[in-house]
Amino acid sequence: MKKIHLEIIFGTVFILISALLLAIMAVKEQDRLGEEGRLSAYEGQQRASQIEFGAGIYETNCTSCHGEYGQGIPGKAPCLRCEELFSARMEEIGWQGSLEEYVESVVTTGRQVSTRPELYQGEGLGSPVMPTWSEAFGGPLREDQVKSVAAFVANFEEWGLNPELVPTPVIALPPDDPTALGRLVFVQQGCIGCHTVEGLSTATTGPVLNGLADRAGSTVDGMDAEEYIKNSIKNPSDYVVSEFNDGLMPANFSELITDEEMDLLLSFLLTLSE
Ligand code: HEC
Ligand code: HEC
Repeated sequence: MKKIHLEIIFGTVFILISALLLAIMAVKEQDRLGEEGRLSAYEGQQRASQIEFGAGIYETNCTSCHGEYGQGIPGKAPCLRCEELFSARMEEIGWQGSLEEYVESVVTTGRQVSTRPELYQGEGLGSPVMPTWSEAFGGPLREDQVKSVAAFVANFEEWGLNPELVPTPVIALPPDDPTALGRLVFVQQGCIGCHTVEGLSTATTGPVLNGLADRAGSTVDGMDAEEYIKNSIKNPSDYVVSEFNDGLMPANFSELITDEEMDLLLSFLLTLSE
């Protein structure tokens, strides 16, 4: 049996148990709740079959790029079951709605260009990197199919992150790619909260960092790009960028970032040319 089947069965069984519990609870509460109780049991069952239907759609259409488990495939497409998608990614994108709505919208239109081309390029360099899925946009799936696969992916949050139910996902990062790992350090250390990097973040408290690689070597006499950037992170008050205030960038990154992480961060920042 293929592993995805097992997983879908796990998920489905779990969902069906939840639905059953919901149904039992609803029946128990029925005298008290009347019509409302019956309705929620019905909704629980509807939801369970929607997710099950979505699992099948996932298996047919999405595994080739996002992996059998939704664990992502390095270079191709991101992990859909990793914690990052449920937290940091929503913030990074600036999405205001629910995760399920986000998934539904991405699936509906697909992605013409990758927001992380150095990490994920789909099947190749052509466009789109992720095909359009909704019939409304010329894709192969009906609206209810799109909604179901979105329900399935969003449901990873509930059971896919539970290590007792499923194997630990493989992190979808090429482990020997310092630039990709440095980008992750940049996200994890919260640099995205203050700096714009095209395609990654849009914050404006600090300077836009695209172009940093071009200007860093000529900002301070006698300092090369690498030295200047490192110093800007460790001692932000040494050379304050004009039109920005001193004291805004935290002064304690030298304690928070290990030497190894600093090297990764530098290889990422040194790719940021205009
Ligand atoms: C041809 C390869 C390919 C296929 C097939 C594919 N995707 Fe994607 N998908 C991608 C790529 C590449 C990205 C990342 C683009 C980017 O980083 O901007 C992506 C992004 C996503 C995202 C957004 C994730 C994030 O981190 O923002 C979701 C959700 C998603 N895909 C769901 C699906 C679903 C559901 C299916 C099946 C119906 C599917 N994809 C099929 C290539 C694919
Ligand atoms: C709370 C906001 C804030 C955070 C978080 C922050 N920065 Fe900054 N950063 C600034 C501000 C404001 C400046 C400009 C003032 C200065 O030079 O100190 C700046 C300046 C810089 C510069 C110099 C840019 C140039 O054009 O010369 C670099 C490089 C930099 N930050 C990198 C980082 C990195 C890497 C991180 C994460 C480890 C980070 N920053 C986190 C606010 C922030």
